[in-house]
Amino acid sequence: MWLSFRNKDKKVFSPKGIDLERLPRHIAIIMDGNGRWAKKRGLPRTMGHRAGVEAIREVVKTCSNLGVEVLTVYAFSTENWRRPKDEVGILMRLLTEYLRAELNELHGNNVKIMTMGDLTLLPLEAQKELSRATKQTEHNTGLILNLALNYGGRAEVTRALRILGEEIQQGKLAPEEINEERISSSLFTVGLPDPDLLIRTSGEMRLSNFMLWQLAYTEIVITEQLWPDFTPETLLDAIKTYQLRERRFGGINKE
Ligand code: FPP
Repeated sequence: MWLSFRNKDKKVFSPKGIDLERLPRHIAIIMDGNGRWAKKRGLPRTMGHRAGVEAIREVVKTCSNLGVEVLTVYAFSTENWRRPKDEVGILMRLLTEYLRAELNELHGNNVKIMTMGDLTLLPLEAQKELSRATKQTEHNTGLILNLALNYGGRAEVTRALRILGEEIQQGKLAPEEINEERISSSLFTVGLPDPDLLIRTSGEMRLSNFMLWQLAYTEIVITEQLWPDFTPETLLDAIKTYQLRERRFGGINKE
């Protein structure tokens, strides 16, 4: 079992002065900079992705130990198919290897694996491992690890509109019954809280088609570190920054 930051009475250590009672419920991460990390070392880009998987491992563990409810990682976007075939192949292989190597440990630590995106275009091997992982962990009650795979925010909203359009066509829904809740429940993230904290590495200031609906009120923390250099320490720093922010959700501060 991984070490937990909480004991039965909930509070033991507060790492880095983090308030465990005010954790972001949902952390979403745009992992960027694997290619640059490899280039800086004169290595092929694929080695950057391999090192990126190590960073994912540590971050999953830390989120689980802290008691974060959901961690969503942008592992492969709808646009990533434009990369060279070899690189796409390696990314898919790394995903399959990761699931094969980690599933038992993730399951043993009560992690529930979920996905968002159209998985039907992924290689069959990856689809099989994902289906095994999601089935095996579906009743787990700890951290939800949500893998965004062949995911795009616009594609997700388009899919939601189609779902609602079909319900209207079948006479099950009237157009005036469409509201924000219905749209939210037609997205892949149905049932999950919206991200409270979005982290993007490598200093880029873009959303890159990630969770366009769900990020409406999310606090954004950009770190200069390249993804393979991202450590539990960096995650704790980002959470600390988040806890210093004042969230108003469009309202005003009452004090
Ligand atoms: C961004 O770096 C990273 C990605 C597009 C892929 C992230 C995927 C992994 C770390 C591995 C597979 C996933 C799992 C869940 C095991 P980049 O290539 O865009 O870097 P660059 O901007 O420096 O070129």
